[in-house]
Amino acid sequence: MKALILAGGKGTRLKPITNTLAKQLLPVANKPILFYVLDQVIESGITDIGIIVSPETGNAIKEAIADGPEWTAKITYISQPEPLGLAHAVKTAQDFLGSSPFLMFLGDNLIQGGVKAFVDEFDSRGPDALVLLKEVADPRFFGVAELDASGKVMRLVEKPKEPKSNLALVGAYLFTPEIHKAIAQIKPSWRGELEITDAIQKLFDMGKTVQSHILKGWWLDTGKKDDLLEANRVVLDDLLKPSIKGEVDSKSQVAGRVEIREGAKVENSTVRGPVSIAQRCHIRNSFIGPFTSIGASTVIEDSSIEHSVILESSHIYRIERLVDSVIGRGVELNKADERFKAVKLFVGDDARIEL
Ligand code: TTP
Repeated sequence: MKALILAGGKGTRLKPITNTLAKQLLPVANKPILFYVLDQVIESGITDIGIIVSPETGNAIKEAIADGPEWTAKITYISQPEPLGLAHAVKTAQDFLGSSPFLMFLGDNLIQGGVKAFVDEFDSRGPDALVLLKEVADPRFFGVAELDASGKVMRLVEKPKEPKSNLALVGAYLFTPEIHKAIAQIKPSWRGELEITDAIQKLFDMGKTVQSHILKGWWLDTGKKDDLLEANRVVLDDLLKPSIKGEVDSKSQVAGRVEIREGAKVENSTVRGPVSIAQRCHIRNSFIGPFTSIGASTVIEDSSIEHSVILESSHIYRIERLVDSVIGRGVELNKADERFKAVKLFVGDDARIEL
């Protein structure tokens, strides 16, 4: 069994952060999303992993993985010249996949409890495809599965205007090599992409077996800003291990589940967990509230922050209440003298600012 992780794509919905950073490298609780995906794939017993990358972000992804922990798997990078759809990514990886069955995992998705049970079920039941489904509130934005009374998948529709079920396809799939024959027969959809839902539908038409597994735990797709904040909230709440390795002075208070990494300093501040503060951060005269992650070497002074993701090497100064925010790398955010009510900005392309 091999695995194919999809870490190409455009990341349009996460601009401007994705102008300079691959969305799969965005941190959730101060760890890149892609690292959780790699951990989950390796945990399922697969050691031969292909990663689809784009020409723009491929090198950054390779470097991050090389600088990361030691992975107990063989990793092969496959460049997809253009993001022409999930089925196109599989087509691009055909030489790597050969005649092996494989797990396909979207590199910006997180699944509670990982995918081991799902991989084991595929091995024991032996279908041509096993799809993972999850009940969602508004299925119109997803690939949707229609099941019969016995729970067998009958039809798959990509982003239906009038969904016939609330079961969305989650970002992990298992296939036998039959999927390559199905992909060879499909045409690009109205949005110009080779859709994996169309390929799975084609498997049905070819008389192949497609089975489903309904996920009970959480599923996080980090494609948009609020999804990233939600992923950060859930992961901090569920998975954060408290550990204080940095310095906390006697005028500070740390309550709840908090991680403060090596070289970080907290002075005259309150940190109320769940919170992750990365290495070499400096927090001074500030309040860091629940569901916040602060990236390495960021400085926060005279500010209050809650439910936010701040990336590395930024400087936040005199911001009374920063909430529900995602701040990129190397950002300077400071409030000038109270007497001047004017807002002064030096903001790059595609930024989103709510004042
Ligand atoms: P999406 O989130 O559907 O696509 P995207 O990354 O292009 O984002 P946006 O819609 O905001 O522009 O992709 C899901 C995952 O699959 C993500 O990790 C990117 C990856 N992907 C590929 O590797 N190749 C592709 O052709 C596509 C469409 C996505």
